[in-house]
Amino acid sequence: MTAPAPIAPAAPAERPHAAYLGIGAYRPRRVVPNSEIVDKIDSSDEWIKTRSGIESRRFAEDDETILMMSTKAAERAIKAAKIDPEIVDCVIFASNTRLELGPSMAPQISRELGRVGIPAFDITAGCSGFTTAAAIGTDLIRAGTAKYVVVVGVERLSDLISENDRTCAFIFADGAGAAVLGPSDEVGISQVSWGADGDFTTAIYQDKDFGTYFDEVHASEGTPEIPERPYLRMEGRKVFRWAATALLPACQEALKVAGLTSKDIDVFVPHQANLRITQVLIKALELRDDCVVAEDIVTTGNTSAASIPLAVEELIRTGKAQPGQTALLMAFGSGLAYAGHVITLPPVATEED
Ligand code: UT7
Repeated sequence: MTAPAPIAPAAPAERPHAAYLGIGAYRPRRVVPNSEIVDKIDSSDEWIKTRSGIESRRFAEDDETILMMSTKAAERAIKAAKIDPEIVDCVIFASNTRLELGPSMAPQISRELGRVGIPAFDITAGCSGFTTAAAIGTDLIRAGTAKYVVVVGVERLSDLISENDRTCAFIFADGAGAAVLGPSDEVGISQVSWGADGDFTTAIYQDKDFGTYFDEVHASEGTPEIPERPYLRMEGRKVFRWAATALLPACQEALKVAGLTSKDIDVFVPHQANLRITQVLIKALELRDDCVVAEDIVTTGNTSAASIPLAVEELIRTGKAQPGQTALLMAFGSGLAYAGHVITLPPVATEED
């Protein structure tokens, strides 16, 4: 028997480095202050601010669809990266709030970007969707499989939240963020630190599937019963405790694989889940006193897979952080899953650019 012919290595002999080249965001027009939420959940502005840090959030209107918000964010990321859209050769989309099972969203975004034909696919990884997608994009670039990857994280959580839910109604919100990843002479993205704790799958979950809901609707025909539609639910305290313990080692691992310590970090961008979780992490990580920490949750709420790019965009747009600084990103959420890495901050492009 003859030996099989060796397959020529597709990857370049020297693996290229990758970097975030640009970030863009889309924030829905409608600003929703706590005062609009509190009555239905027997809460108060003070309670919400003290327990979560949130003062207001954005809810998408009908025309601010997942596709529209994703495309705007992706176009701004491409503008910030100062690349010709023609060279984008992969789109990865992350979200938890698409109400259709298909077609996947990434090919639709690539069509809107004028890039029909390139590989484009969706992933779901809870609130860590964006950083998980960015880690996959990084590896595609390093392996030589793709060169300029657009990564999008987007949510319309207001579609999946009961306005009477005391735990979720004030936390979750809508928006989109995107990044262009591409080749770089320097290491601009470290190896990912990631994982998923399947013992906590019921800590953040959809309370019923749409098939069950439609069966209930049919069964209720001719009766006064109106079945409740599926909603996203969260065991807030359980997630809080998990985050307060599991995220420190996750961040330490991200620093270790980047060959850095917490004192090397200029900017810390944790998932915008709760300011109290952020404060626990700042203390445990022993960050430098001058380390800039993202607090986008105050006016954006928790936008799940969009939270990290939105928070990065806010820091750079407002001048609190600068392109070129070293940032630790760490996202976590449903799964319970986490993913984070150390990056060199890229430029951003905003609505005005
Ligand atoms: O993105 C995915 C990741 N998600 C997260 O990381 C979220 C993690 N969890 C949290 O952020 C927090 O658990 C919440 C902000 C959701 C809730 O804060 P908490 O401090 O954990 O509140 P709790 O559920 O322990 O409730 C404390 C008290 C209770 O009253 P008693 O038993 O102390 O008298 C609740 O009944 O606050 C009461 N409460 C409320 N009061 C006013 C619970 N929800 C509310 C509310 N308004 N909305």
